[in-house]
Amino acid sequence: MTELVFPPDFLWGAATSGHQVEGGNEHADWWDWEREPGTPVREPSGNAVEHYTRYASDLSLLASLGLNAYRFSVEWSRVEPEEGDFDLEAIAHYRDMVRKARARHLTPIVTLNHFTLPRWTALGGGWTSPRTPVLFERYARRVVAELGDGVDWYCTINEPTTVATGGYVGRWGFPPGVVDVPRWKKAIAGLVEGHKRARAAVKETRPEARAGLAAFAVERVTNAGGRAANEYWQRWNEDVYLDAAAEDDFIGVQAYTREVLNLPRIVSPLTRLALAIKPLENTVVPRVLAMHDPLRGERAFRVTQMGWEYRPESIAAAVRRVAARYPDKDLLVTEHGVGTLDDNHRIELIARGLAALHDAMADGVRLRGYLHWSLLDNFEWARGYSANFGLIEVDRATQKRLVRPSARFLGQIARTGRLDAEAIPLGGGC
Ligand code: BGC
Repeated sequence: MTELVFPPDFLWGAATSGHQVEGGNEHADWWDWEREPGTPVREPSGNAVEHYTRYASDLSLLASLGLNAYRFSVEWSRVEPEEGDFDLEAIAHYRDMVRKARARHLTPIVTLNHFTLPRWTALGGGWTSPRTPVLFERYARRVVAELGDGVDWYCTINEPTTVATGGYVGRWGFPPGVVDVPRWKKAIAGLVEGHKRARAAVKETRPEARAGLAAFAVERVTNAGGRAANEYWQRWNEDVYLDAAAEDDFIGVQAYTREVLNLPRIVSPLTRLALAIKPLENTVVPRVLAMHDPLRGERAFRVTQMGWEYRPESIAAAVRRVAARYPDKDLLVTEHGVGTLDDNHRIELIARGLAALHDAMADGVRLRGYLHWSLLDNFEWARGYSANFGLIEVDRATQKRLVRPSARFLGQIARTGRLDAEAIPLGGGC
């Protein structure tokens, strides 16, 4: 039997985000976005999976599986529903989450911003406004001070690229849902500044805690024809944020799939040419970014509920890419998961993903933990409740939790720190 052994202090956990699980998040920009006529959001988040009130039993369930860490986000819109008006009950709620996680021997990993903004911030221009990073820093200082010595790990901003490219270049159905390249670049700059300011807030308020970005770093494969589009994507969706993480204590890495760009050779020089014509940027940039259809170029693979290639090892490719850039930095897989109703695919994804991560660690990558996305079935943004990412299934009619076999599988690995490489299951079609 070949056993893959993980370090004894490895963090094994699951992740969620406030808006996706809490329910009743009525001061958030997404709450409005879900109701706006004509948006691509399938259904409102509503009461989600009521994690805001059920967190104690959810934490118990997580701990009972054998996991030792929980990544969750503090909802800025709950903590500061109106500008400058901090809600003490909401703060007490998150303090209690941290306390209860600790009491269950779970290491809390707190995300300060997971996509959603308070309505008032969004109405003031969101990340395109120069005020937002400053106000985000103030909020971050308050949260870090309030959570005190209960939290040793902070993710500043979750996947800033999803917010910027999603909201301002028309991808993924994110608010404000415009195509406006100058505003997109402003949002990118705002997110970069917000990240740096939040990191400073953590370091100055609680120097013992570690702060880092939760970065999107998808595995990408390109031929000569796709090169220019790929470089452009990488520069504006990944590198611009990774550059900003140079002084982070750790970097969170998340990847779900692989994107393949196989295009005729002539496309690359034409792309470069088109990108250089500034008056056309609102037309050209979204098209260049849209070349990144994850299904482009190859069809011979399983596809997940999200329409993405099922590619468990992509997480290790992403981790290696970040490690190549920052070889001395600690890395944490802050998300890895699959939308599927067939739990065997989740088990296989966990096993193959961990085996590939183990290889990367054997090659010197400083990986400190693995946090599966997600603890619970939840609100998958524009797709509503149509995707099942949970280690734990939730029946939203009754709010009943049902532990999936994949949760027990990951829990067993966490308990023993070992994965039997020969027993890695290989599934059939998705
Ligand atoms: C996000 C999660 C989301 C997941 C699956 C990540 O980009 O951080 O909020 O649910 O992907 O789409």
